[in-house]
Amino acid sequence: MKNMKDDILSELLCSEGYVSGQALCEKYGVSRTAIWKVINALKEEGYGISSVNNRGYKITKLPDKLKEFVVKSMLTTERFGRKLDVLDEVDSTNNYCKKMAEEGAVEGYTVATMKQVAGRGRRGRVWETPDDTNIAFSLLLRPELVPNDASMITLLAALSVVSAVEELTGKTAQIKWPNDVIIGGRKVCGILTELSLELSAINYVVVGIGINVTNETMPEDIKDHASSILMETGVRVDKSELLGRILIHFEKYYDRFLVDKDLSGFKEMYENHLVNMNKTVRIIEGGMERTGVALGISERGALVVKFDTGVEQITGGEVSVRGIYGYV
Ligand code: BTN
Repeated sequence: MKNMKDDILSELLCSEGYVSGQALCEKYGVSRTAIWKVINALKEEGYGISSVNNRGYKITKLPDKLKEFVVKSMLTTERFGRKLDVLDEVDSTNNYCKKMAEEGAVEGYTVATMKQVAGRGRRGRVWETPDDTNIAFSLLLRPELVPNDASMITLLAALSVVSAVEELTGKTAQIKWPNDVIIGGRKVCGILTELSLELSAINYVVVGIGINVTNETMPEDIKDHASSILMETGVRVDKSELLGRILIHFEKYYDRFLVDKDLSGFKEMYENHLVNMNKTVRIIEGGMERTGVALGISERGALVVKFDTGVEQITGGEVSVRGIYGYV
């Protein structure tokens, strides 16, 4: 039943119109009742299926869950998501992805979940992934790059999220340098990139992405600066589709980056989405705070800031940029 169910689901998902019940019976050599049982099982999993006499069955709604099968059926990538694990629960997808990398997983390996119990954010912060409303996933990369170049990958990941969110909601998403995705002035996505080095060369890179997708409220203490795609756009984006679209965009952007070895091909797109663009930003570096105006990014992904003392390129590390979240 499981394989036939998956096959029928795949057929329904791939078909633009109705799939005839009779054709399914003939294809699988089973009775009408067997097909009807499969359709009911899919409905119980949350699929909306319309059935029309003489025409057959058609999917009208996807379940509000991350489904490996749905992600896979929409992927047009060559590497990213081709080996995909969707877990019911995990400590952190970055930890899991690293473990898989150590065991020899290939570039493009992806692990995703809707529930992390020990999700990690940048600078040792905790990243909450409450059950069912968020997606958290990590991608494994094995680029031939020097370690200093790897920070640019995080900017590409942010661009991929922005592209997918805009495509699926029709609303504008922005980036707070270097990689927080912002909608309506609030953060909906965070990215944590971790490197494994061997003799000062990159062994592998794990790009971890957490997105608040269908949360309807936010905890009091963070609601001024954090939100979800649903809360900001009113669109209940399908989580599997969102993951699939991000993987498709990421592979496209990453492949171009591997040729260019810099962000020259993305500077304009990134700056068009940069929430800090031409805005006052506070740069906090080693306990010192300076105020300037963000002019854009360099081809290596640094934030270009005009201070009274001149123009400087701000790179990652211990720098934090505060310019939104109630400050601008
Ligand atoms: C941040 O903005 O502080 C970065 C948050 C990164 C969270 C993601 S969720 C998937 C992956 N697994 C983790 O434990 N963290 C990252």
